[in-house]
Amino acid sequence: MKLHLGGQDNEGRERHPASSAPGTLRLARAAEPDTAGAADAAMAEHEPRRSHRERASELGEMAAALAHEVDQPLTAILSNAQAAQRFLAQEPPALGDLRELLAEVVADSVRAHAIIRKMRQSVLREPPESSSIDAGALVREAVRLLRRETRAVGATMSASVAHSLPQLRGDAVHLQQVLVNLLSNALDAVEDCDEAQRSVSIEVTATADRGKVCIAIHDQGPGVDAEQFATLFKPFVTSKPDGLGLGLSISRTIVTAHGGKLWAERNADRGMTFHIELPAQSAGANGQG
Ligand SMILES: Nc1ncnc2c1ncn2[C@@H]1O[C@H](COP(=O)(O)OP(=O)(O)OP(=O)(O)O)[C@@H](O)[C@H]1O
Ligand SMILES: [Mg+2]
Repeated sequence: MKLHLGGQDNEGRERHPASSAPGTLRLARAAEPDTAGAADAAMAEHEPRRSHRERASELGEMAAALAHEVDQPLTAILSNAQAAQRFLAQEPPALGDLRELLAEVVADSVRAHAIIRKMRQSVLREPPESSSIDAGALVREAVRLLRRETRAVGATMSASVAHSLPQLRGDAVHLQQVLVNLLSNALDAVEDCDEAQRSVSIEVTATADRGKVCIAIHDQGPGVDAEQFATLFKPFVTSKPDGLGLGLSISRTIVTAHGGKLWAERNADRGMTFHIELPAQSAGANGQG
């Protein structure tokens, strides 16, 4: 998989249109050619130079995506390591809690490493990994991963998972990142709300024909106006002082690469709902990665 953010090369020129549409985020398969159509022939003789330039630009985009995606696990590692230092400084040291904190540090380090490994694979154009995924387990794990952030905001986060959901197929690390991005946004949205509205809920269901798994993330935050709604998924558009404006565009890229859809809805009463729809693993698939 290849992550593309934005539609300009590193010298500010628009990319070849077949390579990337302006202002959009594009993810291509490893085997997919960089260019297509008649323009290819004309550009062929400049291919080494163009490829080099495009590759430099891709790396820049990937660096931005990587910075975004590893921020959450690295912040969690720092916070748990500092908590461990505080426990050790107590008289007597609170060793019981230390074991749990260190387990968290190990798990978050493994996750950060997995994200970096994905980016390396992407740079090396290795084919994406694919395995059988339990959507309910993925959602519960995302809620668990964000429990520190949820606590810090004073919010509640709950998940309702339908029974006997069909399995998904895809890259669990990438799909986990989508959930972390959407849930982080929901927490940011409810942060300054009254206590009663500081809640995020997730619903996981399947369509009646069991062909798709649907994940809906509801929050009761202030929502967005029509103008913001139109640019939600645009890369580098953010309303947050420390935001990169990449979470939604990266998430949509990943969901699209899995043959699914990600879209936003303004709730009738308050806040937003983000919907993810992913194709279920076909009945014939055996779950081997
Ligand atoms: N649940 C939500 N409620 C209200 N606004 C939202 C919500 N989710 C996203 N937004 C709006 O969409 C913008 C883009 O979100 P996105 O996740 O792409 O970037 P970001 O959160 O600003 O920064 P980051 O790159 O750190 O994720 C946000 O800045 C915010 O204005
Ligand atoms: Mg975000």
